[in-house]
Amino acid sequence: MGNTCRSAKCATASSPLSSKNPLPNSNTSSSTTSSKITSTTSVISSLPSFRSDTSANSNLKSFTLIDLKNATKNFRSESFLGEGGFGCVFKGWIDGHTFSPTRPGSGIVVAIKKLKRESFQGHKEWLAEVNYLGQLRHENLVKLIGYCSEGDNKLLVYEYMQRGSLENHLFKSGIQPIPWTTRVSIAVDVARGLSFLHSLEIQVIYRDLKASNVLLDSDFNAKLSDFGLARDGPTGDKTHVSTRIVGTRGYAAPEYIATGRLNVKSDIYSFGVVLLELLSGRRAVDEDRGSAEEMLVDWAKPFLNDRRKMFRIMDTRLEGQYSKKAAQAVAALALQCLNVDPRNRPDMTEVLATLEQLQTMKEVRTPRPNSK
Ligand SMILES: Nc1ncnc2c1ncn2[C@@H]1O[C@H](COP(=O)(O)OP(=O)(O)O)[C@@H](O)[C@H]1O
Ligand SMILES: [Mg+2]
Repeated sequence: MGNTCRSAKCATASSPLSSKNPLPNSNTSSSTTSSKITSTTSVISSLPSFRSDTSANSNLKSFTLIDLKNATKNFRSESFLGEGGFGCVFKGWIDGHTFSPTRPGSGIVVAIKKLKRESFQGHKEWLAEVNYLGQLRHENLVKLIGYCSEGDNKLLVYEYMQRGSLENHLFKSGIQPIPWTTRVSIAVDVARGLSFLHSLEIQVIYRDLKASNVLLDSDFNAKLSDFGLARDGPTGDKTHVSTRIVGTRGYAAPEYIATGRLNVKSDIYSFGVVLLELLSGRRAVDEDRGSAEEMLVDWAKPFLNDRRKMFRIMDTRLEGQYSKKAAQAVAALALQCLNVDPRNRPDMTEVLATLEQLQTMKEVRTPRPNSK
């Protein structure tokens, strides 16, 4: 298998700054951003305990490349789990106590991401993941177990998430559609993860929320993974941080794409897009649909305001098995999150409270057949 990933297919679909889905202005930063392109150390140093190396993360295991080759049978294609913009992810087996590689079937299963050498600023993204996931622990963030850094070889070892990404479950043909109540609980889990990040003393902006970065365990509990683009939010009386423009087309907030100005409200916008994906079962960007329906937000937004028309965006694979009231509430929440003015978007704590309240509704817990 060597150092190359199995296919380039996913890389173009979900990669930040991908050539297929480039963000407008991604190479032409506005005057506010052009001199503010962050370097590895400036991203890292803004959290007091964050380092431009891995030494602050003593709770992480440092693996050798040989260990990880052995754990994945030399990154064999049978071990391949998925691919994003920065790397390919493989299934591996390690001993739960010593963390040394074991035979498939014994020890614990892990997911091992191997950064592509050609990845855009790959080292920086790798370090951001080590530093953020190495220090932040929450039930809705995927657990980072360790890392490997040997020359150009940069790898990350995570807890294995049995059901893979939300993207696979929502959009892949031939896969059992996710029931409505599970969709709501996935939205709650994602909101909890983001709420945690946004409530830290120095807020963390996740910056790359999308269905492929939400992972599901065997019980469909959702966790945020892929912290390669995460960064610290503004401190003091600053309203935003100015950054180079990265993210994924279809999910990134319009004001961030236009100006490079970033704050937690950019994550709220992306959360609104993920809510639309959960409601509609459609991708944020789908080039196979006509131009009027290619961008999910543009297509869906006009329906969201209307309590009856909003049903037109619902995923037909749900076959009407959802609570009408709850679907209307989620559509209304998505609309608020997608407000073009970031100041009018709700905070993540408000979003979470709304969704948690929905979960207590009897109808959401037991959706009536054909309730539509
Ligand atoms: N811990 C994991 N368990 C199972 N599958 C995973 C895990 N981490 C990643 N994957 C799979 O690999 C894909 C790419 O992972 P991701 O971390 O998003 O990489 P990138 O940084 O390159 O975008 C995910 O969409 C998912 O399908
Ligand atoms: Mg990813």
